[in-house]
Amino acid sequence: MLPEFFEFYNPTRIVYGQGIASDFAAELDSLGVEKYFIVSDTIISDLGITKKVMDGLLSAGIEVTGEFLDVPQDSEVSTVNGCAEQATASGAEGLIAIGGGSVIDTAKAANILISEGGDLIEDHSGAQTLTRPLKTLVVIPTTAGTGSETTMAAVVYDKENRVKTSFTDKFLLPSLAVLDPEMTLSLPPKLTASTAMDALTHAIEAYVDLQWSPVSDALALGAVELIFNNIVQATNHGEDLEARGALLIASTMAGIAFSHSMVGCVHGMAHSVGGLYRVPHGIANAILLPHGMEYNFDEARDKLAKLAPIMGEDISGLSVEDEARKAIEAVKKLTGALNKMGMLPLRLREVGVIEDGLLEIAEATVLDGASFYNPREVVAEEILVHLKNAY
Ligand SMILES: [Fe+2]
Repeated sequence: MLPEFFEFYNPTRIVYGQGIASDFAAELDSLGVEKYFIVSDTIISDLGITKKVMDGLLSAGIEVTGEFLDVPQDSEVSTVNGCAEQATASGAEGLIAIGGGSVIDTAKAANILISEGGDLIEDHSGAQTLTRPLKTLVVIPTTAGTGSETTMAAVVYDKENRVKTSFTDKFLLPSLAVLDPEMTLSLPPKLTASTAMDALTHAIEAYVDLQWSPVSDALALGAVELIFNNIVQATNHGEDLEARGALLIASTMAGIAFSHSMVGCVHGMAHSVGGLYRVPHGIANAILLPHGMEYNFDEARDKLAKLAPIMGEDISGLSVEDEARKAIEAVKKLTGALNKMGMLPLRLREVGVIEDGLLEIAEATVLDGASFYNPREVVAEEILVHLKNAY
């Protein structure tokens, strides 16, 4: 069976290489921009990563007009507004984001204000609101999870209203993604595990979602395989650049997949848990992924069955239903193993969620944009059952 219609659009050039982030000025030639403003955070800067990139740029004659390092772990609208103001004042022609999802999403959202004008990013939220290309954006991910380097979305926390505000538009896609596993070397084991679980969730949700296509499926399946084969190694042996590189590539592949096929109820629940209880995104996804797969079991059975062997499960002689069960078991085995290693919690009760708050999470999940693409309609009373299981 094929979809009646699909579109695949990925204009982001991707370059990969060990050490490439400190020597990629040649890759900027074709972009026609010479003045860049750096967006990063203090942790990345204190580790010397920002300087490493900047030294490479300066020695190649690229002008850096300034830097904004005040991006918090979960970016907020006020951060975006401040970043845009400074970048504009510096006279930059383009942005280089060095960091995790929060930094990259800050740069993407700030780029809307820098290119379109205005003072408040809140005025631009929503989908497909942009009418022309934004300024050049180069991204260098320092985590392997969000895939934000190749997605057309940015998510920013709105503190006042306790919700995540999202921006979706094809013009948010970066011009260039520089993938260098050395940039993720300083990622602590727990973050290595939780960010990779975010990428795994992107891949699985993109694969089973309503807006799937054979092209995004291929990327999603490739990402699942790379993550299953490398997540434990990269977590246990952070110095293994091969394993780190595999997670980085997988996270980008999953990013392209879900940028087209979207994510589903797991992200709907994770966004709600993140907005209401500030649970880090990767951890929320890791806890909720097997429960979301259970929620979608009947609608996604055939596809879940195809995931099982890619996840290393022996499916010989099994029915399709049992093969699909094996995929959920494989995810539970993986999160269980990471839990035993002290890398991940397994229950919502362990991350500050209160039992009386589960209904509010379920209701917020129904309204979350991610839930619209879920293969099974997201209904509060029914998703509540699975939230209770995850509690
Ligand atoms: Fe995610």
